[in-house]
Amino acid sequence: MKPLSGSTALVTGAGSGIGRETAIALANAGAAILVNDVSGDAARATCAIIGKTGGQATPYVASVADPDAVRALFEIFDDEGKIPDILVNNAGISGNGPTLDLTEESWLRVVGINLNGAFFCSREAARRMSATRKGTIVNIGSIYSIVAAPQRLSYCTTKAAIAMMTKCLALEWADAGIRVNCVAPGYVDSALTRELAAAGRLDMAALERRTPQHRLGKASEIADAVLYLCEPRSAHITGHVLSVDGGWTANGYL
Ligand SMILES: NC(=O)c1ccc[n+]([C@@H]2O[C@H](COP(=O)([O-])OP(=O)(O)OC[C@H]3O[C@@H](n4cnc5c(N)ncnc54)[C@H](O)[C@@H]3O)[C@@H](O)[C@H]2O)c1
Repeated sequence: MKPLSGSTALVTGAGSGIGRETAIALANAGAAILVNDVSGDAARATCAIIGKTGGQATPYVASVADPDAVRALFEIFDDEGKIPDILVNNAGISGNGPTLDLTEESWLRVVGINLNGAFFCSREAARRMSATRKGTIVNIGSIYSIVAAPQRLSYCTTKAAIAMMTKCLALEWADAGIRVNCVAPGYVDSALTRELAAAGRLDMAALERRTPQHRLGKASEIADAVLYLCEPRSAHITGHVLSVDGGWTANGYL
């Protein structure tokens, strides 16, 4: 018997990077995966990977930033009898640049996906989880849930808010049998960081120097932390923000 046998997990933004690795890890632990992404091709590719190892995964295309689309997505789950008892709010985008040049459109886009999306999905999921008194939600934060960086106002603000949302919801929903935690990754080798490095907006060598372990994280290491927080062995953990960052946020020095 695998630790998540009989569970159904919705992972948002699961078509790439951390979301994909998380979907794979949860599937390997026995959960059926509802693979959400705004890109259908990406979602289907993740499902194909999981399918090859005998796991169960179904793609669902929707933008988490659109409350109507999120409501419709959960109504599909209701109709299909696939109510998630695990939700991983992973979908997220970066937002780099000087604040004085930050447009309303860019600000609203980052807030819409990184923060509103987690709220919309959590609310729909918890409405259903509270009926069964069984549920766990893991939000993907960042080192920027904890510490600040210049020229990343929308990203840092939304990730800090995600850490607080985690604690608020953990308190409010504990009596309903729902746990809410947050995994806060440091810089991870992913499509997102590679794009930023290619655009000259991230200095990989400097990041490695700044990290006590002198390397970026792997998406699979973030997935392992999420997996732990979804399993019954973490049953007494709720409202926690777990750094998985090679020591980045512990480091107050160079
Ligand atoms: N990569 C890092 O270094 C790093 C570090 C800390 C935190 N994070 C966080 O981890 C999460 C995943 O990051 P990643 O590096 O794997 O990114 P990624 O770009 O590789 O993957 C993000 C996925 O989300 C999807 N997506 C984007 N907008 C969406 C929307 N509106 N609705 C549904 N899906 C949407 C994308 O299509 C993509 O497949 C994000 O929340 C990010 O902020 C990443």
